Amino acid sequence: MSAYLLDWSMLLTRWLHVMAGIAWIGASFFFIWLDNRRQPAHHAVDGRPGGELWAVHGGGLYHLFRHDGVSETLPGEIHWFKWEAYVTWLSGMALFTLIYLLQPHAYLIDPRVYEMSGSQAVIAALGVLVGGWMGYEAICRSPLKRHGGGLFIAVGLWLTLAAWIATELFSGRAAFLLMGALMGSIMAGNVFNVIIPGQKALLAAAQRGETPDPVHGKRAKQRSVHNTFITLPAVLMMISNHYPLLYANDYRLGVILLLLVTGGLIRIATVDHHKGIKRRWVPVGALLALIGVIVLCAPRAQAPLPESASSTAQSPATSAGVASEGDKATDAMREQVAQIIENRCAGCHSDSPTLIGLTAPAAGMAFNDWDDIDRQALRIHQRSVVDKSMPLANMTQMTAAERQLLDDWWKATQ
Ligand code: HEC
Repeated sequence: MSAYLLDWSMLLTRWLHVMAGIAWIGASFFFIWLDNRRQPAHHAVDGRPGGELWAVHGGGLYHLFRHDGVSETLPGEIHWFKWEAYVTWLSGMALFTLIYLLQPHAYLIDPRVYEMSGSQAVIAALGVLVGGWMGYEAICRSPLKRHGGGLFIAVGLWLTLAAWIATELFSGRAAFLLMGALMGSIMAGNVFNVIIPGQKALLAAAQRGETPDPVHGKRAKQRSVHNTFITLPAVLMMISNHYPLLYANDYRLGVILLLLVTGGLIRIATVDHHKGIKRRWVPVGALLALIGVIVLCAPRAQAPLPESASSTAQSPATSAGVASEGDKATDAMREQVAQIIENRCAGCHSDSPTLIGLTAPAAGMAFNDWDDIDRQALRIHQRSVVDKSMPLANMTQMTAAERQLLDDWWKATQ
């Protein structure tokens, strides 16, 4: 029952996280677009110049005006955009805790990457998050803050270091999600620490009738720009755990870095497009970086094992009990496969799972009997042989020889 309720708490937290994230990123995209598309206003508002834009949406006509500087006559109510960011971050951290920090053996640790205890893994993951964010803040507050380009490169190198540590210590799935969580924390931190306080200082000065210190606007702009570069790769990292193809390979660091480049270039290309600037190398670069990711993630032929079972598979003479035309798998082979799946997978993938507190088959996939296995052969092969993302964190210690046997069986049925 408690596992059932835990599942619900995760589902509801995820729902909140996704909805708040959509509201946050949506508003931020809208304001970027507004800034890039506004035209010099024909009339000043309150005697001040500015930029304006007309838009139609939901059956209404909207007239948006951006004041250059801050108007002296502020209205009573001004809308802020901050709770979207805070709720996204808070629900994201809750989800990260429920899934990764409370189940380090299932999700954080992969002994093939690095062996550590559950508490070591939790401390290391928090270290990447907290240390990663503090380092970013320190870089942004260093003298580099006066050199936008230099700062940008330093932040890029810092994220590279964080990605290297994450991919050296954690399971592929956790490394990607941790990078997403770090980038999301940097973004929310920017809103909380710099952008909102800067805007408050700006309005407070205007209310006092003083000219606001332009440094607030500049700092807020700098962090906003960082956020726009981080957004796209961060969202991809968040959804990466549904696509083992991204992390179940030997080039995780390269994949993360190329995704950062892809997202950054798409961001530049989008702004170019809004502003009517034509720079062909930007979208071409984004496409090349993405192709690089696709190549890095591609499944590779593995060296055959010395004691491979393939000789049995290829022998047509022993093909007793053929299941369907073209199926060269032997009964003995099917028995072995069923045994492997019973030992290595059924703990999580059966109608009554026994592992990691599951109350239903993991991912809704049960391998209760031979029919189940036969029917889902493609996905079994995909996850346990091609990308090896299963068994989860290789918890049930599936051997290379067993993977080879599943491969031989799959090939024999083709
Ligand atoms: C320790 C628990 C555990 C074990 C053992 C395990 N799995 Fe999984 N499996 C999971 C979980 C959890 C998911 C859902 C993963 C997700 O949401 O990303 C999953 C998902 C899957 C999926 C669906 C993934 C997809 O989206 O296509 C397949 C297929 C799969 N497992 C096959 C296997 C096979 C084959 C084995 C044995 C060789 C195995 N699993 C062993 C926990 C496990």
